[in-house]
Amino acid sequence: MATIIRIEDIAQYVDQKVTIRGWLYARTGKGRLQFLRVRDGTGIVQAVAFKKEMAPEVFARVGELTQESSIVITGTVRADERAPGYPGGYEIGLEDVQVVQMAHEYPISPKEHGTEFLMDHRHLWLRSTRQWAILRVRATIIKAIRDWLDDNGFLLVDTPLLTPAAAEGTTTLFELDYFGQPAFLSQSGQLYNEATIGAFGKTYCFGPAFRAEKSKTRRHVMELWMVEPEAAYVELDECMEIEEQLVSYVVQTALRERRTELEILERDLSKLENVKPPFPRVPYDKAVEMVNDLGKDQDVSIEWGEDFGSPQETLVAEQFDKPVFVHHYPTAVKAFYMAQEPGRPEVCKSVDLLAPEGYGEIIGGGERSGDLAFLEEQIVHHKLPQDAYGWYLDLRRYGGVPHSGFGLGIERTVCWICKLPHIRESIAFPRMLGTIYP
Ligand code: 4AD
Ligand code: MG
Repeated sequence: MATIIRIEDIAQYVDQKVTIRGWLYARTGKGRLQFLRVRDGTGIVQAVAFKKEMAPEVFARVGELTQESSIVITGTVRADERAPGYPGGYEIGLEDVQVVQMAHEYPISPKEHGTEFLMDHRHLWLRSTRQWAILRVRATIIKAIRDWLDDNGFLLVDTPLLTPAAAEGTTTLFELDYFGQPAFLSQSGQLYNEATIGAFGKTYCFGPAFRAEKSKTRRHVMELWMVEPEAAYVELDECMEIEEQLVSYVVQTALRERRTELEILERDLSKLENVKPPFPRVPYDKAVEMVNDLGKDQDVSIEWGEDFGSPQETLVAEQFDKPVFVHHYPTAVKAFYMAQEPGRPEVCKSVDLLAPEGYGEIIGGGERSGDLAFLEEQIVHHKLPQDAYGWYLDLRRYGGVPHSGFGLGIERTVCWICKLPHIRESIAFPRMLGTIYP
């Protein structure tokens, strides 16, 4: 009896008879010799069918297999450094093939397809090597984030997705009918995290967030995944330290555990190797000067007080070979809950982390205001429904403490670590402006 194995473990089975359950990725060869590239979700291996080593009916079956047919193959593992695959260096001398389902003509062939076609076939496109590599890196990024937070004293506390009010401003809310009352899909779990730290000290939530952004860019999805750590007795500087530790750990883990996948993506690994603390810290005031000096000719100049868009972020980030913090943005361009800088109320203790290589903001966060009167004013000023924030203001009445937190967007982080040209490849089923199929 052959052992059923996963391709990623194949190195442990040299010279043994094994069974692999998967799909036919590609088939080449003719006459007496056929090469099958078989994938099982964990890797791709070449299986070699040699007419004279097989029963005639089995060899005939091999010659009829169509791309993406589901098959169970059995054969002996041979080490051969020329053998292609992931991990390469091993092939299977094929002895038997069982056809589970003979696939219809597969719509995605090795020829080039347009993006729209591929997006319409996203349910199948995921099987292609590049998409496979990206989503395996993504899973490792998420695991590394959880591991780091769990090991550094942050307790996972899930926050609701159905909410009565905005967390990040009202312009990007998805509204729904909650038993006759308006409700919204959550933009962020932050406000609830600010409650849970009162019970647990350091917490995080990790889940989807919804933004009804009317923007069709390579950086925006409507449904994103965000991890949001929050910590009591942590001020802005320490918040940045937590961010740089977390991000560095995630990048170094991806480098170590997903090297094959990053190589498939032709990622320049030396750029990622650089990502170690500390990260440079640039106050918004300086960043504006930087933009206006460097970007004079490029039409990206801005006035003090304006928010950064992607051209400004790119320009600032380009000056460094690691992610860079820009902190103390104008109070007026940030969310209502940001703490004002004492003595300089026009700026707040906010911080964005900008990724290098043109990826821009991957984290937004900062220190939260503990000032009840200021928050009450802000809620009015931002035209937020006062009733819905009663509980939030209670947090300033009963044991308020300095506290900070941030939200890291998974898709943008995947884009940067994998160096993807567009966010649509960073999640299995992206939700983009106007598209919801498949
Ligand atoms: O900067 P944002 O809006 O911050 C918050 O939501 C805070 N409440 C987080 C907190 O402090 N707990 O979003 C955080 C991150 C962004 O930096 C970005 O990476 C990602 O979430 N993000 C998006 N990613 C893709 N598409 C969108 N439409 C995104 N909106 C935010
Ligand atoms: Mg932001």
